[in-house]
Amino acid sequence: MVEIEIEWAEEAGRLRASAEGEADWNRTVATSLVRDGDQVAVDVGCGGGGMAKALADALPAGATVVAIDADPDVLEQARQHTGGAVRCELASMDDGAEPLRKAIDAPADLIWASASVHHAGDQQAAVEALASLLAPGGRLALAEGGLPARSLPWDLGVGEPGLELRLDLAQDQWFKVMRESLPGSVPMPYGWTDALTRAGLTDVTTRSILTETAPPLSAERLEHLVSGFRFRVERLTGTSSETGHGHGHGHLVPADADWLSPDDLAAWQQLLDPDGPHYLGRRTDLAVLSVRSIHLGHAPR
Ligand SMILES: C[S@@+](CC[C@H](N)C(=O)[O-])C[C@H]1O[C@@H](n2cnc3c(N)ncnc32)[C@H](O)[C@@H]1O
Repeated sequence: MVEIEIEWAEEAGRLRASAEGEADWNRTVATSLVRDGDQVAVDVGCGGGGMAKALADALPAGATVVAIDADPDVLEQARQHTGGAVRCELASMDDGAEPLRKAIDAPADLIWASASVHHAGDQQAAVEALASLLAPGGRLALAEGGLPARSLPWDLGVGEPGLELRLDLAQDQWFKVMRESLPGSVPMPYGWTDALTRAGLTDVTTRSILTETAPPLSAERLEHLVSGFRFRVERLTGTSSETGHGHGHGHLVPADADWLSPDDLAAWQQLLDPDGPHYLGRRTDLAVLSVRSIHLGHAPR
């Protein structure tokens, strides 16, 4: 059976870069989530600590922000990124509510979890653990799902048109195997709003935020975008740019997992080759169009 295990420590640098790259989005969202009187906010599965930092900036002096992650190397990146404004604590959503409660040390007014609950073996149990940490009237915000981002023209002049769509499909198959490979993996055959409701939260809503950067992208945005595609392709092929083979980025993907067709892989190799004529990083027609969803539930008062 194909198994996927993510080594988060090997992703710490990438998570730090995305905390820095998403500072504007985090600031906008944090400002919209914070309410008068909030004293304790938490970012669970905080990665590079981008939202923890934004929450600390959005809350008044004297408020507490706690960043929690299950990986010590990732947490160290969050510690450096948040520069003392945030308390960083090691704990896993897979261990139930108590270690998280101990790490936070007070009922939470706001808990944020972005793209982290879907890495818990039992997602419903994780949502229930997080809900149990809320103060009366506190909010749990899950940033999960949305729409696959679009950046490439449909026809790139290399390979078959529709390459980006097929990368999304391959990633979806990868995601299924990743979830099945998690220790204690439990299916959750319903959506995030139902998960929040089953956890006893009320006034459950979803809002989705569209972000668009039109072409031509700045050199910095272009580099970030190309490295994002490189990461995704390497994750699906088990290669890394340093070695050209092996299990890049800590993702164990046996050779028999053909996530991408040989033709698509050959096209991606051309598009990601900085010395080749088709390098994505020289194009003027790439954009960023993304839609991310935030599902919000309230603890009863
Ligand atoms: C895809 S990253 C998302 C990081 C950040 N929240 C963001 O949106 O950019 C998932 C994060 O969740 C952490 N994580 C994975 N499983 C976890 C668990 N069971 N408990 C706590 N954190 C976990 C990983 O170490 C990683 O930092």
